[in-house]
Amino acid sequence: MIRKNPMKRILVTGGTGYIGSHTAVALLEAGLEVVLLDNLSNSYRWVADRVVQISGRQVQFAEVDLINREQLHGFFGRQEPFDGVIHFAALKAVGESVENPLLYYRNNIGGLMNLLEAMQLSGSGNLVFSSSCTVYGNPEQVPVDEACPLQPAMSPYGNTKRIAEEMIRDQVQVGKLRAVALRYFNPVGAHPSALLGELPMGIPNNLMPFIAQTAIGIRERLLVFGNDYPTPDGTAIRDYIHITDLADAHVKAIHRLLSVESPEPWEIFNLGTGKGYSVLEMINAFETVNGVKVPWQYAPRRQGDIPAIWANPAKAQQLLGWKATRNLTDMVASAWKWQMALQNR
Ligand code: NAD
Ligand code: WQD
Repeated sequence: MIRKNPMKRILVTGGTGYIGSHTAVALLEAGLEVVLLDNLSNSYRWVADRVVQISGRQVQFAEVDLINREQLHGFFGRQEPFDGVIHFAALKAVGESVENPLLYYRNNIGGLMNLLEAMQLSGSGNLVFSSSCTVYGNPEQVPVDEACPLQPAMSPYGNTKRIAEEMIRDQVQVGKLRAVALRYFNPVGAHPSALLGELPMGIPNNLMPFIAQTAIGIRERLLVFGNDYPTPDGTAIRDYIHITDLADAHVKAIHRLLSVESPEPWEIFNLGTGKGYSVLEMINAFETVNGVKVPWQYAPRRQGDIPAIWANPAKAQQLLGWKATRNLTDMVASAWKWQMALQNR
């Protein structure tokens, strides 16, 4: 049975980031209390104000760097134990991780290690971890379910997700923790208010922000990486999932961990829609739904990209009671609304 105590306190690391901020809103709307933690290395303090503005609820924000062990322990020492922790804080640029692997291991693995230690010392025993479909590598079959064998990571970033899952599993095994890992497919879109969304710093790596920036004229044209994949139109296929659907899944995951009868102390769930779209389908949807042009041209395949992956999300539906409900139109419309709001800031 789910305990619906509105005073349950959840720590959201990476809470001013893209997924963290949307999840904070969803948690607040579900009646939970939220504390945001971030070092602001890839986000801004004003995002926390937007979370307050949308939810109409008070939110504590702490500027803390997870790799600063002393600072983190000081922070936990000043807080009551948290009922749950959702751990988003990480660096996520695949290319940067190839160029500077130690930065990624120090931040993503060192940060998690400090967090697990602080949670153990403070008696905070429930964790939701942001994992990624990148752990499946180039899968032998699609859709992928959670039992699909993991492949060697294609980048140090991907490797941090795989190692992190193993670290958490080991900590669960000694009875110090109950945890859920959520393997996200490709999160896109923005909050319907256009007050929150993705804030790529510099040139975007990911498809959707690049499309939006091209449509508004910040980028001259989109390069479509590869037109010779074994897919119907030759471009690569991914499972794009609306950010607010993704955020809702975290509320379900926390409720499952907080529920008295939560069956397994360590569980993994895919978070995707179960449907794949090609790069060209994404461009076409963006243009058609938003009535804008996205200049593009073909370019060679991007190193490390796989031809096609999409999720089997059945386990999340069965056990979390979660299913993605927003469609491609919602995704591209909200991404465009957010891009225009950013332009007018
Ligand atoms: P994001 O960069 O917007 O958010 C991450 C936040 O963590 C940022 O605000 C950053 O300032 C903060 N942070 C980083 N290192 C920190 C540290 N040492 N201490 C404190 N704060 C720190 O990224 P996002 O897209 O919201 O991703 C959130 C999580 O989801 C990450 O773990 C990412 O790897 C994972 N993920 C993201 C995607 C995606 O496509 N966006 C896909 C799969 C998994
Ligand atoms: C999607 C498709 C590109 C940009 C990455 C990470 C993964 C996960 C999600 C965190 C691909 C194509 C892209 C462009 C293009 N993140 N593309 N032109 O590569 O599926 O996954 O983000 O865990 O780990 O690797 O997402 O948005 O970069 O690309 O043609 O300018 O769009 O080749 O087929 P990807 P993406």
